[in-house]
Amino acid sequence: MNDTQFTAAGKLRHLLTLADLPRALLVELLDSAQDFCARPGAAVKRGDSLAGRTVANLFFEPSTRTRASFELAARRLGADVLNLNLDTSSAVKGETVLDTLRTLEAMNVDAFVVRHAQAGIPALLAANMQSHVSIVNAGEAHVSHPTQGLLDALTIRQHKPDFGELCVVIAGDIAHSRVASAAIQALGTLGVGELRLAGPPELLPDPGMQPGARQYHDFDAGLRDADVIMMLRIQKERMNRHAIPDEREYFRRYGLTPERLKLARPDAIVMHPGPINRGVEIDAAVADGPQSVIRSQVNNGVAVRMAVLNKLLGTDRT
Ligand code: CP
Repeated sequence: MNDTQFTAAGKLRHLLTLADLPRALLVELLDSAQDFCARPGAAVKRGDSLAGRTVANLFFEPSTRTRASFELAARRLGADVLNLNLDTSSAVKGETVLDTLRTLEAMNVDAFVVRHAQAGIPALLAANMQSHVSIVNAGEAHVSHPTQGLLDALTIRQHKPDFGELCVVIAGDIAHSRVASAAIQALGTLGVGELRLAGPPELLPDPGMQPGARQYHDFDAGLRDADVIMMLRIQKERMNRHAIPDEREYFRRYGLTPERLKLARPDAIVMHPGPINRGVEIDAAVADGPQSVIRSQVNNGVAVRMAVLNKLLGTDRT
């Protein structure tokens, strides 16, 4: 168990990774998120379990979905929310990340939601905060994105609850993807029946890193009879310029088109964490088509982040 993530009494204090989250706790978070879910157009669920608490969003990398959903989640539970603009903060004068957090900690911030391009930053911060302060990892380099893993697991469960029966394909740039890492961890804990990783060899992890998954360089073969297809963006920001594939050729070999989708089961669901690059990893007709659950993933993102903040900071936390 990750000692930094839990208190000495075994309670969740920070959310840094799904790697060692016990199955019971993962399921508890999914159940709690399900209770917070509201259909688009319906009145949102609200609560006051975070009243008197302050949540600060510190995104050192760009974000639309994660940042917006953490803000909505915290506000819907009654917290005060601080969105620090890092372009105009003292970070540009050379202040370290840790000093920035310690400064805000002195203003009674209770939780920091942090996205950073450097691996290890969330754990470093967690090890240096006062005992009542929580760190939530909102995306760490290529390593970890735990709330994305939770919202992906919740989305799959809503459509296909029996994980043991499922064949899940994760396709694209898996080597550079924290989304893939988190999904693989969550799916492993939930006992997924079959996990396939599809993509060009240079974008797949070393096979030894994911021994439970079968690798496919032929996307068509990887798609056959799949129940869940999780498409990934090419993470150009984490690549050497020379390693970036030719986008047309990549789409020809690894793009999810309506024709390719027919190789999967007829009721297969198509997922993508966003942001989408239409015509690179996914055809617009698939992204917007009847098998796409991409907008459900976004909707579930708010509910999952409400569940996580409630667990870490809520007055009704156990
Ligand atoms: N999926 C995801 O992390 O999206 P953002 O980069 O927009 O937060």
